[in-house]
Amino acid sequence: MKTAATRDTPEEVRTRLRAARSVFVLTGAGVSAESGVPTFRGGGGAAVWKGMPFYEISSAGMVERDLPEVWAWFDYRRGVLKTLRPNPAHATLARWQDRFAEFTLATQNVDGLHRAAGTREVLELHGNVWIARCMSCRARADVRELNDEERPPACPDCGSPMRPDVVLFGEVLPAGVFERAAARAAACEVCLIVGTSALVYPAAGLPELAKQMGAFLVEVNPERTHLSALCDVSIKGRAGEILPRLDD
Ligand code: OAD
Ligand code: ZN
Repeated sequence: MKTAATRDTPEEVRTRLRAARSVFVLTGAGVSAESGVPTFRGGGGAAVWKGMPFYEISSAGMVERDLPEVWAWFDYRRGVLKTLRPNPAHATLARWQDRFAEFTLATQNVDGLHRAAGTREVLELHGNVWIARCMSCRARADVRELNDEERPPACPDCGSPMRPDVVLFGEVLPAGVFERAAARAAACEVCLIVGTSALVYPAAGLPELAKQMGAFLVEVNPERTHLSALCDVSIKGRAGEILPRLDD
């Protein structure tokens, strides 16, 4: 039976979590919104940088056409992120790795804030802005350890150009990470969907898979999404306020 959406934390969710052995959480840009990270959609308009919508500057085609410009966009994003800190939603999820027998955190975010909050294992479906990847030999490096005057930076191993290790529009997810997330989503008892518009696949398919396999689905988002109708409970509110209240 579907519970009506409410601003409050439904007792049913707390009860389900108390009994759960296996919990899967999918997060999106909204979990970092209260840290100051801009979301892509919602809130009145799509993100635009130098006149380009994010799906153009963050695209596989742009890497081919103008790699230095792609670096400029990610340098800009890292510049914003550098000053930001995890919020109570990230902190609650970090505690949950020790609360449940099996806990999986999969994120679409590339900001690294779940790790900064102390989550040891994060399935980063879309990569991480702090990592660069060589375009020929696949070596990886921390962007902060590369020459920041050189764009694109040269691979420390083979000298070829490097690119941000993130998934761009028109690209597939890194090998293995989606499969791991799907296996955990399929096996969970409770699936939480926090701060995502659930429009980008395959990530948005993970809660659908969890539901098909019998999980109890809970969404935390101030707005209605594409997945709201599928959820058992849709909690309308901000992640940083709601998640700590789901923590016993
Ligand atoms: P979106 O920007 O599409 O959606 C953000 C969601 O967060 C919206 O549904 C908001 O209503 C919600 N939101 C806003 N503030 C919130 C808060 N304080 N607490 C909880 N929710 C809040 O971001 P994603 O769904 O993450 O991909 O976008 C998916 C992917 O699209 C991103 O990973 C990115 C983008 O293209 C890549 O970069 C590959
Ligand atoms: Zn290389």
